[in-house]
Amino acid sequence: MANRRLAPAAEQPASFAFTPENDAWAKGQIAKYPEGRQASAVIPLLWRAQEQNGGWLPQKAIEAVADTLGMPHIRVLEVATFYTMFALEPVGRYWIQVCGTVPCDSCGARGLKEMLHERLGPSGHVDANGVFSWLEVECLGACCNAPMVQINQDYYEDLTPESLGKLMDDLAAGRPVKVGSQTGRSASEPLGGADTLTDPTLFDGSRIGAWRKRFEQTEASQGGGDEAKSSEQRAATDPKPAHPDSGRTTERAPTDAPAQRAAAGQEPVKASDRADATRGEAAPKAIKDLEPAAAEAGAQSGLPRDVPPPPPATSGASDAEKAAEAEEARVSETLATLPKDASPEQKADAVGTRPKALDAARAGTPDDLTRIKGIGPGNSTKLNELGIYHFDQIAAWSPAEIAWVGTYLAFPGRIDREDWVGQAKALAPSGQ
Ligand code: FES
Repeated sequence: MANRRLAPAAEQPASFAFTPENDAWAKGQIAKYPEGRQASAVIPLLWRAQEQNGGWLPQKAIEAVADTLGMPHIRVLEVATFYTMFALEPVGRYWIQVCGTVPCDSCGARGLKEMLHERLGPSGHVDANGVFSWLEVECLGACCNAPMVQINQDYYEDLTPESLGKLMDDLAAGRPVKVGSQTGRSASEPLGGADTLTDPTLFDGSRIGAWRKRFEQTEASQGGGDEAKSSEQRAATDPKPAHPDSGRTTERAPTDAPAQRAAAGQEPVKASDRADATRGEAAPKAIKDLEPAAAEAGAQSGLPRDVPPPPPATSGASDAEKAAEAEEARVSETLATLPKDASPEQKADAVGTRPKALDAARAGTPDDLTRIKGIGPGNSTKLNELGIYHFDQIAAWSPAEIAWVGTYLAFPGRIDREDWVGQAKALAPSGQ
C-alpha cells in the first residue's frame, strides 16, 4: 500500500500561490457551491494545484488551498493524504500508478511491480533521468482488464511485465503509445472477443422488426392455423392488462378489513381479535407452563414479554477450548494488575516462564515453523527472535512456557487452542 507522507522538508518549496489564470479558475469552481459549502471544491482545487506544481502536491499548496477555502489545514491534508491521485512527493515525467488490489494481483500485478522495482528502484522515487516514478495504489476501477496501470491521466490494461516495459520504452523515447488494453480487446469485452449482443439487427436500426419476426417464427413453429396469430394481432383482439398476474389464475383470500365489515353491517372488530388484544392483561404464563411443543419451536410471539428468556444452551466447547478459555481468563486477570505501559516481556514474565532459547539455529538451518498451523511468517520471525528455531523446542514447551510465549505474542490461549505443541511433536524428527 502507498506510503502517504509529505515529501521531506528539503524537497518542499518555500511557497505556493495559484497563477492568476488558475486563481480565476478556482474562483469559478468555488462559485458553483452555495454559500457555506465552498469546502466542496477542495478536490478540484487540489488537483489544479498539483497540475500547476508539476504533478505533485507540496505542503504549501495544500495550505494555500485550505486558506482559499477557509478550511483548517489539517482537513485539507486529510483529503490529500487519503486519495492516491494526489502525489505527495515529486514524480517523474511519467507517474506510473500500479493497481495492486486482488483482481489485478491475481492476474499478474506482482510481476509488474517486480519489473518496476528492478527497472526504477523502490516505489515513490524518481528515476535518475527524471522520466519515471511509480507507486502501488488500490483498485483503479478497470478490474475487467487486469492487471493495469495508470500513467499520468491514461489507463493501460491487460499488461504483462514485457508489454509494460515496452510501453515505458516508447514513452521515454517519445513514440506514440496505445492507451487502454494492450492485447487489443475492446473496452472490457471477454478475452476471446464479444460473445453477447452479437446480433447485428440490434445495431442497424431494425431491432424491433427482427424481434417481431423472431416471435412470429416461434409462434408458427409451435401452433399453426388460427393459433399462429402474430403477437400484434393477438394484442389487438385479446388485450391483457399490464399486471404481474396477467394470464395466470390467482387465488386470493377475500379481504376482511374492519371497514369492509362495518360497511356490511357487522362488528368492525371481531370477537376473536378483541380476545387477542386483551390477552396481555391476563396473568403471564411462566415458560414452563407453555405448551412444550410451542416453546421448543421457538414460538417467541407466544411468550409474555416480562418472562426472562431461557438461558442459552451450553456451548459444547471441547476440553481444549475450555482450557484455553480458562488460561485466557487467568492471564487477563494477572495482566490487569500490571501497569498499563508494561512491556510484552514484563507481561509474559508475570504469567509464565520464558522457554529456553538457542543462540542460533542448529547447523545454521532453522525449521520452517510456518508448517505449524497458526504460525505465519510474522510469528515465525518473532519466534526466531526469541531463540526458537526448531520443532523440538516447541514440542518441549511446558504449560508455563506456553503461557509466556502466548502472552508475549499477545494471543494467550491460542497456542493451546491450535495445539502448537502437538503439531510440533508430529513434525520434530524423533530423537531430538
Ligand atoms: S483491482 Fe485493479 S483495477 Fe480494480
